[in-house]
Amino acid sequence: MKSTLRLVATFFLFHILLCSIPSPAYAAGGGQWQLLQPSIGIVAMHMQLLSNDRVIIYDRTDFGLSNLSLPDGRCRNNPNELAVKVDCTAHSVEYNVASNTFRALFVQTNVWCSSGAVTPDGLLVQTGGFNDGDRAVRIFKPCPDCDWEEKGSLLGASRWYATNHILPDGRLIIIGGIGQFNYEFYPKTAGGDKVYNLPFLAQTSDPGGVDNNLYPFVFLNVDGNLFIFANTRSILFDYNNNRVVREYPSIPGGDPRNYPSTGSAVLLPLKNLQAPNVEAEVLLCGGAPRGAFQNVGGGTFVGALNTCGRLKITDPKPQWVIENMPGPRVMGDMLLLPNGNVLIINGAEVGTAGWENGREPAMSPLFYRPNNPTNSRFELQTPAGIPRMYHSTAVLLRDGRILVGGSNPHVGYSFSNVLFPTELRLEAFSPSYLDAQFANVRPKIVDPNSLSALKYAQKLKVQFLVTGTVVSDLVSVTLFAPPFNTHTFSMSQRILVVGTGNVANLGKSTYEIEVTTPGSGILAPSGSYLLFVVHQEIPSEGIWVHLT
Ligand SMILES: *[C@@H]1O[C@H](CO)[C@@H](O)[C@H](O)[C@H]1NC(C)=O
Repeated sequence: MKSTLRLVATFFLFHILLCSIPSPAYAAGGGQWQLLQPSIGIVAMHMQLLSNDRVIIYDRTDFGLSNLSLPDGRCRNNPNELAVKVDCTAHSVEYNVASNTFRALFVQTNVWCSSGAVTPDGLLVQTGGFNDGDRAVRIFKPCPDCDWEEKGSLLGASRWYATNHILPDGRLIIIGGIGQFNYEFYPKTAGGDKVYNLPFLAQTSDPGGVDNNLYPFVFLNVDGNLFIFANTRSILFDYNNNRVVREYPSIPGGDPRNYPSTGSAVLLPLKNLQAPNVEAEVLLCGGAPRGAFQNVGGGTFVGALNTCGRLKITDPKPQWVIENMPGPRVMGDMLLLPNGNVLIINGAEVGTAGWENGREPAMSPLFYRPNNPTNSRFELQTPAGIPRMYHSTAVLLRDGRILVGGSNPHVGYSFSNVLFPTELRLEAFSPSYLDAQFANVRPKIVDPNSLSALKYAQKLKVQFLVTGTVVSDLVSVTLFAPPFNTHTFSMSQRILVVGTGNVANLGKSTYEIEVTTPGSGILAPSGSYLLFVVHQEIPSEGIWVHLT
């Protein structure tokens, strides 16, 4: 009797323990949130980290007056403006990471829902927008007191909700936009502003102003072609010859993944770069079911998708592999972390992108570990305190934190009596790899200046300090291309593993790993990258390197 009782008690205890331990597939992790600025005065709708550790942020010029005055009594006088024709407030800022300060920047024409990319020499090129800005090109140089330079209406077509990608030859490609089933390049050559048709975008545009193919997900594949995902379909595209090289299977389930069914996507880390055939995989997560946008119009908010699809785009017979996130998410940003894991952050669990269309903020960031077994890849992290709905952004910083800003699902700046007030606060999320408990494991790169200029296919010795014991096989070096982020998509985002293992111990806690930089601009377009040494998934602080 007694032993039976004990058995029953043990069983219950065991059962309680089992129930209270989160299932390993969705284990709850850590990470910390930090409020950086109670207000930067504008909505962080677009963000780009530049190689001087400043983040360029802008929203749009027709939200009305922002909460940040332009300095020196300066005002923008724009007869073509739709909201305030003489506007003495800023709609762009430069955030200085090291000093946690920001300054107002001046944009003349409307940059709303636009796109951008950083050139090999480090300039942010911003393209398109709305109204008087829809064909505009603007340049921002990373220098101490620099400001936006308006280059004029140089684009061949209106680019509103388009996607950019930096190319191996240093040009930008600008793809799509509302009503634009075509693409073009910048800078313009002598031939002028030629626009090339891309019927795939017409084929993937849903009727009735819903689209579901805006801000298409674009990645530079390892063969030099572009992978373009729109709605449910994807192609491999030879942009030089305007030719569809192949079409991939549609993502299973039939639900759209691009704006306004806004999911997100990343190119998973490129590795084994010396192999004859480098492999490339795309991971795409979340979005809203087909009809979600129309349903919101009718007053019904439907749950977001909880599925991710993973596709090996270099495979001769690729198939999407579907995995389930711990919860649904629309408008989640997918960011590559220095250690090659993926962070899914921001967004909502219900509704779609667009004005007033989101409900139930998705507060917990989510890790995805691409190399783990299928059922142990996702891990929920410490929830945020601030909802980040439509028009929110996130970018990785050199120190490994994630800068998070924005959220404004309203036509103007609305701070009261609305669901999800316009959000001017800037925060940082520190993934658990920054926890003090990993100080012994964390590498510190020695002599960063010696690594600042790198050439393709260069053998390179990277020295680093680790105070604890080094596990050679668990050391790697990664190169990260900081993306242009808006509407949950991080354009030109890329990470390459340039070396693993074979670490030499030089004594005095100093170690050395030999790595080889990528072989070409197809693998890694020329420009500024962050180089990280990673040990047991704990990254060093990054250092800026310039690859040519
Ligand atoms: C922005 O400015 C408005 C108008 O002055 C004010 O009501 C609001 O509280 C400010 N919001 C923030 C977050 O600073």
